[in-house]
Formats: sequence, structure tokens, C-alpha cells
Amino acid sequence: MENLNSIKKEILQKIKSAESDDNVEEIRIRELGKKGRITKLLSELGKLNQEERKKLGPEINDLKNKVLEEIEEKKEFFLDQTLNKKLLEEKVDVTLPVKSSQNTNGRIHPVSQVLDEITEIFGSLGYEIADGPDIETEYYNFNALNIPESHPARQMHDTFYFDEFDKDQGQSVLRTHTSPVQVRTMEEGKPPFRFISPGRTYRCDSDQTHTPMFHQIEGLSVDKETNLGHLKWTLETFLSSFFEIKNTKIQMRPSYFPFTEPSLEIDVLCDRSGPVLKIGEGSDWLEVAGAGMVHPNVLKSANIDPDIYQGFAFGFGLDRLAQLKYGIPDLRTFFSGDIRWLRHYGFSALDIPTLSRGLKK
Ligand code: DAH
Repeated sequence: MENLNSIKKEILQKIKSAESDDNVEEIRIRELGKKGRITKLLSELGKLNQEERKKLGPEINDLKNKVLEEIEEKKEFFLDQTLNKKLLEEKVDVTLPVKSSQNTNGRIHPVSQVLDEITEIFGSLGYEIADGPDIETEYYNFNALNIPESHPARQMHDTFYFDEFDKDQGQSVLRTHTSPVQVRTMEEGKPPFRFISPGRTYRCDSDQTHTPMFHQIEGLSVDKETNLGHLKWTLETFLSSFFEIKNTKIQMRPSYFPFTEPSLEIDVLCDRSGPVLKIGEGSDWLEVAGAGMVHPNVLKSANIDPDIYQGFAFGFGLDRLAQLKYGIPDLRTFFSGDIRWLRHYGFSALDIPTLSRGLKK
């Protein structure tokens, strides 16, 4: 048997001065492989007498373990080195422009954009957001809003009916407007109320200005002294902020809705004399919303005493607001799912000038 100590010294020195992982692997095979030097020493133990075996056995095993340990450590060192080198070499240069074929970012739909803008503005005015189901009952969609069964307004709505029928709630319908959220929300809480409710609405109608599904935004403010002056200020403030113009004016025209008394059409000042419609200028008027003072019967539907509380309500077409603000002519294109349209009219998530900006000073 060779001198174990000198073997150990020699191997450890070789491991230490190895220059690559391959070098270390060569040492491992030479010493610990099937025909390796240490392997051979171990197999030769059998030929020795018991006493020698007892003495040399543990010594050779120690040698083997020590060599293994050193080899592993050195291998790990080279692995780290390769990784670090790779990390340095493969650094991404963020200053390089993106190839156009890789520019597949999504765009924000104008309806989502406008919805965000509107909620932000009403949020700044202290309005909460209320929600209701798309599949409504005749009761909430009509009766609770002072539209009884025989009322001609039911025909005006071109309602989609479901087969389902409940003896108290009537037939299920796709809601024809967001107004049912008024009663649903008031039933759940206590006055005063101040909320808006945006959402999808449905009517059996389709042409350049109508789609079977469209979006509305409902507004409701109920308190002891809420009046038409408050409504006027609220809508003028909202419209000025939304269209980003100073102090726009509205005109209130008498109208009729079963759930308001008096009922009004809201027109905003506009200029139609040039090639593009300008909101907030000129001397023309453009209809943008329906509104009015909440009918006492609607308050009663929500168990609110109309002798103590009164309020105003309004309803905007969300898609129409988007069309007006961003100059989008055909309503049907909003829902056609054409990616080219969305690239053109959509908004980038990282570069939106008006998103979440709230009321302008
Ligand atoms: N719900 C009405 C519609 O769909 C819009 C509307 C008018 C809502 C007057 C209101 C309102 O809250 O006060 O035609």
C-alpha cells in the first residue's frame, strides 16, 4: 500500500489547481471511478489480514470522503462561475427598441376607458358605485319604477323576455335600463343616498345608433332637501370635467319618464357649424341624458317616505358619451370585436392622459 498521506496531499493539490469542471471530472474518474486509485485501494483491503484491514480501512474511507467532498466543492465553484458568466453575457438591453412584430400589447376598450373616467369624476363628488343583475325581474325593471303592466312605456323598451315566471316578481327579463338598481340599492340601505350604477342594458333593437346590448350609467341622489338646482350643478360639473372644458352649460327640457316627476331631457351646449362637433361651445344643443326628480312612488317601492326624502336621478348612455368624446361614428363597431378598430380607438394601459384623473381644477 502506498503512503496514504502522500496520496491525499497529491490529490487535494490537483483538485485545488484544477482549471475547469472537466479537469475536476478527470480527477474524480482517475481516483474514484471504477478503476480509480482509491477504488482499487478499497478493493485490495480484502487481501490484507484482519489487523491491517482494521487499521487501513477507516483511513482509506476517510481519504475517499475527503476527496469526494473537495471534488463537489470545486464542481460547485465552477458551476457558479459559469452561471455568473452567463448572467453577465445574457443581460437584456432595455434600451433597445422592441421589434414591431413583438408589439402585441392589448388596448383598453373605449367603453372601459370612459367608464373609468366617469366613476373617477363621480367618485370625487362623493358618489358610491352600486351594482345590479343583468337578468332582472319585471318587478324591478318596471313595476317598482312606477311602470305598471298596462303602461305604454313597457312597449317602448323592446324588452327581451325569459320564460321564467314568478308570481310576485313577474317574468324574468334582460334589464332594459340601469334604473332598476335605484330601488334595489335603496332597499338595502338607509337615506341619504348618492350613487352611480354603470352597466350593460339590453333592448331588441339594431341599427347605426342602436345595438341589442349597450351600456348606461344611472345616477341617484336622495336626501331631505335635494332639488333640481343640485341636479343642474351636478350634471354641469360632470360634463365639464368629462369633456375637459370650462363651465359648460346644460339646458333642461320638459320630458316624460314614469319614474321621475318632473322629468327632463338634458342637453349640453355644442357647436355644429364646423366639420367636427364641439361640446361646450356655440349655440346649439345636444341631448345627452334623461333625468328628473325621483317619483314618490319609486321612493315608496324602496320603503322611503316621500314626505321626508326627495331626490334626483339621471341616466346617460355610456357608449354615446364615448362616441361624443372620442369621435367614434358607428355604435355597432364598439361590439364587433374587430382588433383593428380596437387598435385605432383603444387606449394604451400605460399612456392614458385622462384615466383616473378625476375632477379638473
Ligand atoms: N332609464 C331611462 C332610459 O333607459 C333613462 C333615465 C331617464 C334614467 C331619467 C333616469 C332618469 O334615472 O331620471 O331611457
